[in-house]
Amino acid sequence: MTDIVAHAQSSILFLTDRCNLRCRTCPQMTGNYTVNIDDARDSLRKIQWSESNVLYLTGGEPFLENGLIEEILSAVPNSVEVRVLSNGTLLPSPSVMAHKNLKICISLFGCSSASHDTAVGSQVFTKVMDNLYDLARNKVSIEIRHVITEFNYRDLRVFAEFVFRNLPFVSNVAFMGLEIVENALINVQSIWVRPQEFLPMLFEAIDFLQAVAIPVQVLNLPLCYFDEKYYPVVMDSITGWKKWFLDECSDCALKLRCAGFFRSNCELNLSEVFK
Ligand SMILES: C[S@@+](CC[C@H](N)C(=O)[O-])C[C@H]1O[C@@H](n2cnc3c(N)ncnc32)[C@H](O)[C@@H]1O
Ligand code: SF4
Repeated sequence: MTDIVAHAQSSILFLTDRCNLRCRTCPQMTGNYTVNIDDARDSLRKIQWSESNVLYLTGGEPFLENGLIEEILSAVPNSVEVRVLSNGTLLPSPSVMAHKNLKICISLFGCSSASHDTAVGSQVFTKVMDNLYDLARNKVSIEIRHVITEFNYRDLRVFAEFVFRNLPFVSNVAFMGLEIVENALINVQSIWVRPQEFLPMLFEAIDFLQAVAIPVQVLNLPLCYFDEKYYPVVMDSITGWKKWFLDECSDCALKLRCAGFFRSNCELNLSEVFK
């Protein structure tokens, strides 16, 4: 298994495919693999930190492997920002939490047990909220990651207001397009929502967060879905190997900085995936 991918400005280390949840939306195959620390160190040594100054740690659930994260943090220069993608049900160990250049990117798919727990498929909303307050008390930088699905797209603006009122300490909110593989593919009929359905609500949510000065980004969606005023918050993909473009994209001047589409979604060949 390839466990590290380096890009121009960021690298991704896949720590483990172990997970304590089995989310309905999960695009990740889960199992019992965890990267060996010596292999991880070898991979980290190959990274040009002067160019790639953000390291993502993902899984599975990375906080099942706090000891491994501690070892990895000790092998990474302090100037590198380490972003750990987590389902928010488990906390970092005290020494991981104390790391100076750490951001924890927590999946939060709704502002109530009804919406978050439906997407996740387990009763974890209250635990995630408790952990968010714990992280805030410990002054850890937090990103909220909100994958847009049939379960939550009507309430994107409500979610933005929820973050403002209940989680005003977060560093930023990322709204994310769906990748349809693994569990997400199994559950595609219940989770998929067409972009034309959710975009008006997404614009409102972005406008709201910008008005209250909470930084916001959009991940996994193509630039041409958006008015130019939103371009600064619509990010290019960090998973370039999953990126795909349609024939219509071939002459597009924005292609070089566009996240495009997930290759897996294109291969499904669902016309409703795109419009
Ligand atoms: C597979 S998860 C692994 C990390 C961690 N277990 C978690 O759930 O946040 C990596 C990222 O994918 C996001 N994600 C979950 N389902 C997704 C989907 N179907 N398409 C795109 N991203 C998804 C999560 O919000 C998370 O930020
Ligand atoms: S999305 Fe994350 S928490 Fe949910 S099953 Fe997949 S890896 Fe686990």
